[in-house]
Amino acid sequence: MKTIKHTLCALAALCVASAALPWSAEAALVGISMPSNERGRWLDDGNEMKMGLEAAGHQTILAFAGANDVKLQQQQLDEMLDKGAQYLIISCVDNKSLGAQLNKAHQKGVKVIAYDRLLLDTEALDYYVSFDSVFVGKIMGRYIAGMLNLDESGEVPNIEFCQGSPVDQNATYVWEGSMAELQPYLDRQRLNCPSGETSLEQTNVMYWNRTKAYERMKKLIASQDYHPGKKRLDAVLAASDGIAAGVIDALREAGYDSSNMPIVVGQDCDKINVAMMIKGLQSMSVFKDTRELSLVAVSMVDALSKNLEVPLNDTEHYNNGKKVIPSYLLDPDIVTTESLKEVLFDTGYYDIEVFSDEEYLNKTVAAPEHK
Ligand code: GAL
Repeated sequence: MKTIKHTLCALAALCVASAALPWSAEAALVGISMPSNERGRWLDDGNEMKMGLEAAGHQTILAFAGANDVKLQQQQLDEMLDKGAQYLIISCVDNKSLGAQLNKAHQKGVKVIAYDRLLLDTEALDYYVSFDSVFVGKIMGRYIAGMLNLDESGEVPNIEFCQGSPVDQNATYVWEGSMAELQPYLDRQRLNCPSGETSLEQTNVMYWNRTKAYERMKKLIASQDYHPGKKRLDAVLAASDGIAAGVIDALREAGYDSSNMPIVVGQDCDKINVAMMIKGLQSMSVFKDTRELSLVAVSMVDALSKNLEVPLNDTEHYNNGKKVIPSYLLDPDIVTTESLKEVLFDTGYYDIEVFSDEEYLNKTVAAPEHK
């Protein structure tokens, strides 16, 4: 982790230095395309990049693709290209849906960075910046194995899976990482999945959507008769916090509360889920600091615009189906109720005052109307 923090300090220094230069010759127009305006993290990612790029003297066009709207994302990218964007930073809704826009970008000499989510089956991609999502899945699997004491306990706990979006490569990575940890226990019958659904095809949740996760969990509750005092459910692996929230909504409806909630893990440390952790509804979330990720993307563009060396730390492992994409990967952190303060509040990511307000917490963990 230290190395990453050091690298980020160096990257931050690069941005500050560039802000002090007479940069007008290198000032670029950068299109930032985020997949959704429904969830806190993408708003933060987008706004942080906008601020960082503008502080370094660049201009930006920032767009959010509504509620995971593929067509809207295509249109927004077309508009950015028509307005003369020289760089595109894209977090896609659907990893194979932007071929036409990416080809157009490359024909115009525009450099493309895949942000957080890899763009697949295209030559027209230059860089990838993300967190190591296989490691995210491993953190989830290891945490569940530890909490259920799978190496030592004589009991065979029950688990269900709600994995990520089938059109997001991160879902495959998280699934791979989590199953690398948990499949051996399933194979040795130290862990049981009563529905038998463990593959990504069977367990995915389209667009990592809370309502879709709620519906999947409702179905599992009905088919397996999971209820407090009835059939036991010990853990649910939810691949993101949006999914975890939907799972928890369904479990609460089935009668679970903080006293008997199965272990539920997620990823992102969304505000809702931080509140759920404080209220004892969610056990763990994998934290991917959007401040770090956005800083790397900003530094990449800034370096490219000045013909400087682009920050990269992986030029081998990320093949998008057409070629290996030069990448910068960050390491995620685990956050539990014990480490919340240190990782999220002490670092200023969230304001502890906000999360100390009981009224705010109750409002935040309330289930929305799922329709
Ligand atoms: C993934 C991302 C996760 C989470 C999820 C839901 O691509 O890696 O951190 O944000 O999307 O939007």
